[in-house]
Amino acid sequence: MSISKAANRNVTSQNSVFQRLQIQRLLAATQIIAPSTGSDVVKGLTQTSKSLPPCYFYDDRGSELFEQICDLPEYYLTRTETTILQQYAGEIAEITGACELVELGSGSSTKTRILLDAYQQLGYPLHYLPIDVCAGMLESSAKQLLRDYPSLQVCALAGTYELALAKLLPTQLPSRMVCFIGSSLGNLTPSECNVFFSQITEALQVGEYFLLGVDLRKSKQILEPAYSDSQGVTAAFNLNMLEHLNQRFEGNFDTTQFEHWAFYNESEHQIEMHLRSLRSQIVELRALNLKVNFALGETILTEISRKFDLNILKQQLAAQGLSPLHVWTDPPNQWFGLLLCQLQA
Ligand code: TRP
Repeated sequence: MSISKAANRNVTSQNSVFQRLQIQRLLAATQIIAPSTGSDVVKGLTQTSKSLPPCYFYDDRGSELFEQICDLPEYYLTRTETTILQQYAGEIAEITGACELVELGSGSSTKTRILLDAYQQLGYPLHYLPIDVCAGMLESSAKQLLRDYPSLQVCALAGTYELALAKLLPTQLPSRMVCFIGSSLGNLTPSECNVFFSQITEALQVGEYFLLGVDLRKSKQILEPAYSDSQGVTAAFNLNMLEHLNQRFEGNFDTTQFEHWAFYNESEHQIEMHLRSLRSQIVELRALNLKVNFALGETILTEISRKFDLNILKQQLAAQGLSPLHVWTDPPNQWFGLLLCQLQA
């Protein structure tokens, strides 16, 4: 083949990647990671029980550490959900038929490929709408997917779930499935969870689908190590939030003076992740005009990860009009659940 022909072919395949990709930013670049002025930080650190919003985990380093968490030997969640998807993606595609896949918190889109493969195998058109607050990650994973799936069309939305769900246009395919996997539902409080379900039902038409992956209740002996791994990756991830705040709000948190602490609250059925102050200290965030006192041993709650009972969750979904059609788990452990729901009239 002549050089110009080869070059031409390259341009054509590049073009077609761009022709099949649309990225819409719903927030200004500075607002992408955490759409706030820091008032949420002030609020969290001036309460009697201190807390920080989990969105501050995800700067570049935080996103990288999060990817590492997913591969940890103690962190069974990603592996288990992947196994369930690998086993049942074909069944899911058969139930839904051709449909547009919308993914909330798509990240690196690794698990999405399992679904795309299943729809491709049935000969369905592939339309994918990833939604993530991290625009950089959206763009790079979308481009990789477009190279690997020649007929795929991607319309990526950079923004929060709330904004993106409210912006969904009617799909050109016969149906749509909103996917919320990775047990991110567990990171919402029960009241946030109710608001979230109503945003889902607003975004869907009757008959359309909601695919939900959730971590199930199990013994403390299995749960706690998943959030306090032996290599200290989760600890680094948690402490990185303080570095992020230092950068973002001219802070002087000394990360050697805090420690990671995660435990399973059995009565609430949730992992609670905290940062504990190793001495009495004052921390300043100059850009927020804020000085915070910490007593020795005082903690900041940074994340909850709720663990679900399938029967209770199914009832809750049904009560919102999201009727569960099918539930898959991992035999024999039943550590993780994947629910396919359909919006009822
Ligand atoms: N949703 C997953 C979980 O609850 C992933 C996750 C979110 C996570 N925030 C985290 C994992 C903080 C470890 C630490 O497990």
